[in-house]
Amino acid sequence: MTMSGRVHGRVALVTGAASGLGAASATALAREGARVLLTDVQDDPGQALATSLGEAARYTRLDVTQEEDWCRAIGFAIATFGALHVLVNNAGIGMLADVESTSLEDWRRVHAVNLDGTFLGCKHAIPAIRASGGGSIINVSSISGIVAGHNLAAYNSSKAAVRHLTKSVALHCARTGSRIRCNSIHPTFVATPILDAMLQATADPEAARRKLASQIPLGAIGEPDDIAFAVVYLASDESKLMTGAELVLDGGLSAR
Ligand code: NAI
Repeated sequence: MTMSGRVHGRVALVTGAASGLGAASATALAREGARVLLTDVQDDPGQALATSLGEAARYTRLDVTQEEDWCRAIGFAIATFGALHVLVNNAGIGMLADVESTSLEDWRRVHAVNLDGTFLGCKHAIPAIRASGGGSIINVSSISGIVAGHNLAAYNSSKAAVRHLTKSVALHCARTGSRIRCNSIHPTFVATPILDAMLQATADPEAARRKLASQIPLGAIGEPDDIAFAVVYLASDESKLMTGAELVLDGGLSAR
């Protein structure tokens, strides 16, 4: 695809960038002219992707549940690229379990990554983005943050909380004149390892995949670039009037 520089001059930090939607988003941001710090807990694929993206990309380890990792990674972005304008809070884990079969340990683990990780990212990136002249925070929630499923208790809860945290962050940034926008993205099922893991946990993964696709009015599971295009839009000034909003990419699922 041709580069048109939609985020030229921006510095972006993407979490969970070694795989799936994070990898696609980091690639799209670099393709559109941003310098990108890819972060993950999977160092080898994260480093390999950063290397393949060239001089505009770097990789560093960032476990989103660890506050000290956040401070170090944001410091690394500023030391390497001189600024931070965009944060994509993408790292997440899934879990298929209803409320009765969810252990407290699993409940806390899902919330630690999906919700605490997003909270820590917003908290620590805001001062850095403000000092860089403003920018955009993009929180990858899920359609599961809006529409519930009987067997997604912890995941539903964590993603719904991300949706509302996003609005609080957006209002705080607007009120303090920080020139930082904050929006959430709500994808339906997209073909990535997280979805594969959830499907493998069912009795018949292929039947489960067909069932998921048939539930989407457009009739298909999404592709990672469907979400990456939205990330570029939210990272760029094309979305400068948008904050505290939900960008729903669900093939019509929630329109019913
Ligand atoms: P994925 O499993 O391919 O990628 C998730 C990445 O997050 C992995 O590279 C993993 O190593 C990383 N990660 C996990 N725990 C981490 C931690 N503590 N610190 C840092 N990184 C960590 O999954 P996918 O699909 O790319 O998911 C990305 C985001 O999109 C997640 O927040 C997910 O909930 C969300 N999402 C995914 C959908 C799908 O159907 N694939 C649909 C809706 C939302």
